[in-house]
Amino acid sequence: MVVETVMSSFSRAFGRDPESVASAPGRVNLIGEHLDYNGGRSLPIGLPVRTYVAVAPRTDGRLVLVSEQSPDRMEVAVDAPDVGGWAAYVVGVVQALGLAGTGYDVLVDGRVPLGAGLSSSAALECAAGLAVADAAGATPSREELVAAAVRAENDYVGAPTGALDQTSVVFARAGHALVVDPAGGSHRLVPWEPEGQLLVIDTRAEHSHAGGEYADRRRTCDAAAAELGVTRLATAGADAVERLLDPVVRRRVRHVVTEEVRVGQALDAVEARDWQGFGRLMTASHASLRDDYEVSCRELDVAVEAALDAGALGARMTGGGFGGSAIALVPAGLGDTVRDAVTAAFADAGLAEPGFLDGTASDGAVVEVGRS
Ligand code: GLA
Repeated sequence: MVVETVMSSFSRAFGRDPESVASAPGRVNLIGEHLDYNGGRSLPIGLPVRTYVAVAPRTDGRLVLVSEQSPDRMEVAVDAPDVGGWAAYVVGVVQALGLAGTGYDVLVDGRVPLGAGLSSSAALECAAGLAVADAAGATPSREELVAAAVRAENDYVGAPTGALDQTSVVFARAGHALVVDPAGGSHRLVPWEPEGQLLVIDTRAEHSHAGGEYADRRRTCDAAAAELGVTRLATAGADAVERLLDPVVRRRVRHVVTEEVRVGQALDAVEARDWQGFGRLMTASHASLRDDYEVSCRELDVAVEAALDAGALGARMTGGGFGGSAIALVPAGLGDTVRDAVTAAFADAGLAEPGFLDGTASDGAVVEVGRS
C-alpha cells in the first residue's frame, strides 16, 4: 500500500510517525480549455496517479520539507514571505489557510509526473493543505481548500491560473467527470464511463504557467471582454467575435466562444453515450486550440494526429498547452495499437519517447490517515 510506504518514508526522514497523510490526484480536462478564466465551463476528471503528503507539527516555527522525488531537504520559516522552488506550493497553501502555527515536518511523495500538464502543482497544494489542516486540527471546507490552493498558486508562486485545476483535484469522483462552471462558482458531477479507454499521452515537452504565454492569453481575453462590455467572454456569442477588429484577438475570442458551445454539445454526447460524437468534439477542440488560441506545440500535434490515424475516436491537448499532455478516447481493444502508433510517430519526428498513463476517472483529495 502506498500510504504505508509514505508513512515509513516519513519515519525514516524525521525519526517519528506522521500525524496526518493526505493525497490528491492529477487531473485531465476532457474539454472546455482556457475557459475557466473566461466564465466558461470545463469538464475535468481526476486521474489514478496521486501525490501524497505526510505531516507532523513542529514547535519551533520551521517548515522542514523532504520529497521522494528530490534529494534536497529544505528548511524555511513557516511564515517566510518568499520561498522558491516546489516548497512554495506547500508554504503558500499553509499560509493561505492561516495554519502556519508553529511549523511542520512535511514529506511529499509526488507520483503525478511533474511538468506534464497533469496538475502536479494543484495535487501538491491540495494534498498538503488537507494534511496540514488535519494535523493542525482545523477543518476547512472543500471550497476553502480550493480557494487557498488557488491563492498559493496565484499570489505565492506567481502563476496567474484560474481555479480549474484545484477544483478538479479536490472535487473529482471515480466514474464521474466534473462540470466546473466558474460563473456561479459551481460544479456538479456527471457519470463518465466511456466505452474503451481514455489514454493520457505525456509528450515529455515540459510546460509552465509561470511563463509569459499563459498570462498573455489571459490579458488578451480580459481586454476583449472589456472592449465588448461583457463579464463572461465565453458566452458573448458568435456575433461578438465579428465585432473585434484585431485579427489575433478575434481568433483568440473565437476559440473561447466556440469551445463553450462544444462543452454544451459534449455534455449532451456524454448523456447520450455518443462516444463518436464526443470524440469529434475533442478533435475540434484541439484544432481550435492549435489554430485560433495558438497554445499547442509540435509534440501535442504529433500525438493527436498519430492517435487519430490509429483509430482513436477523438484526441486533443489537455490543460494549458505549450507542452504537457494530450488525451485520446480509444475504442476497446485498440489501446496498444494507439500507443505503439504514437510512440512510432514520435520516433519518426525525432522527438523523445512519450509516456502513457491510465485516464480512468478517479477520486479527488482525501485524508488517508488522520487525527480524527
Ligand atoms: C491550466 C490552468 C487552468 C486552466 C487551464 C486551461 O491548467 O491552471 O486554470 O486555465 O490551463 O484550461
